[in-house]
Amino acid sequence: MNNTTNDFTPGTPFWGAGGPEGPEGPSLIAVIGAGTMGNGIAHVFAQAGFKVHLVDVSSAQLQKALATIDKNLDRQIAKGTLTAEQKKSTLENITTFTQVPVGVKEAKLVVEAATENIDLKLSIFEQIDDAAPEDCILASNTSSISITKIASVTHRPGSVIGMHFMNPVPVMKLVEIINGYATTPEVTNTIVELSRLLGKVPCVVNDYPGFIANRILMPMINEAIYSLYEGVAGVEAIDTVMKLGMAHPMGPLQLADFIGLDVCLSILKVLQDGFGNPKYAPCPLLVNMVMAGKLGVKAGEGFYTYTPGSKDLVVAKRLA
Ligand SMILES: NC(=O)c1ccc[n+]([C@@H]2O[C@H](COP(=O)([O-])OP(=O)(O)OC[C@H]3O[C@@H](n4cnc5c(N)ncnc54)[C@H](O)[C@@H]3O)[C@@H](O)[C@H]2O)c1
Repeated sequence: MNNTTNDFTPGTPFWGAGGPEGPEGPSLIAVIGAGTMGNGIAHVFAQAGFKVHLVDVSSAQLQKALATIDKNLDRQIAKGTLTAEQKKSTLENITTFTQVPVGVKEAKLVVEAATENIDLKLSIFEQIDDAAPEDCILASNTSSISITKIASVTHRPGSVIGMHFMNPVPVMKLVEIINGYATTPEVTNTIVELSRLLGKVPCVVNDYPGFIANRILMPMINEAIYSLYEGVAGVEAIDTVMKLGMAHPMGPLQLADFIGLDVCLSILKVLQDGFGNPKYAPCPLLVNMVMAGKLGVKAGEGFYTYTPGSKDLVVAKRLA
């Protein structure tokens, strides 16, 4: 069993005692993948004063990420939590790259947030391991892929760790930190302290399927879908019971739409395969909806339909 306590003796952080400004200038963080999560991760590191190399194979995605960060910083200014000067320096801290080896060359930490696909992640980690400095920590934002497996394709398994941010990254406080089988306590300490420096609340867990967040969340979402499939209640009733009865800010079906039904299905399969327990078997309705391309918010339809510009929550016709 690895150590999962949150009380650590402070280590020697790579960013220096007072903040990101080390003796040789701000430390460099490379973020791989500029999608939903990557842009948010780049945003919070750059806002905290780190230099960020944001890397994606798609130039269009990099441009979109910069536009999203700009818009989200404006939102913070409107709320009075950021000044125009801070926005400027945050944006100046971010440089974009389309090649992983170039982006990670001088990094102290790499946070990988590319597409959730095991073969892709293993090949990215092989590239990062070859190109990044020897003392660089390699973190993955994966929702469900084994950190131990990812670490096994590198020459530094002790320096590989899960740093699981929540969506939307600039808003959500939690960072679920996942110790792989070989992760050293020093590396865990560093990532715990770094998460605190970003204004987040770190929670350390061990590397088993779904970690904690998704191991508990996904069976709840799956059970909500089973309740709909078996006709126990309709979409609105299920979500209202959980919102008003359990004080959840969002019902499980709406949350599934927000996460993406394809993502929910793939995490449930990881749980089912990893534990060999039929209790994690995805509901046939979820499987059907994914096959039909009804993936939730990103597809315009899941349990609800989503019309651009409208905030109304309308149950999808097929399920009403
Ligand atoms: N979306 C969420 O709510 C959420 C929450 C927590 C964790 N995660 C995890 O974060 C990771 C990213 O998820 P996302 O929702 O941001 O995905 P996304 O599809 O929005 O973005 C993934 C990005 O990775 C890029 N990419 C693909 N191959 C690449 C490569 N070889 N090199 C560099 N970039 C590459 C893609 O071009 C894309 O821009 C996944 O591991 C996911 O499980 C997602």
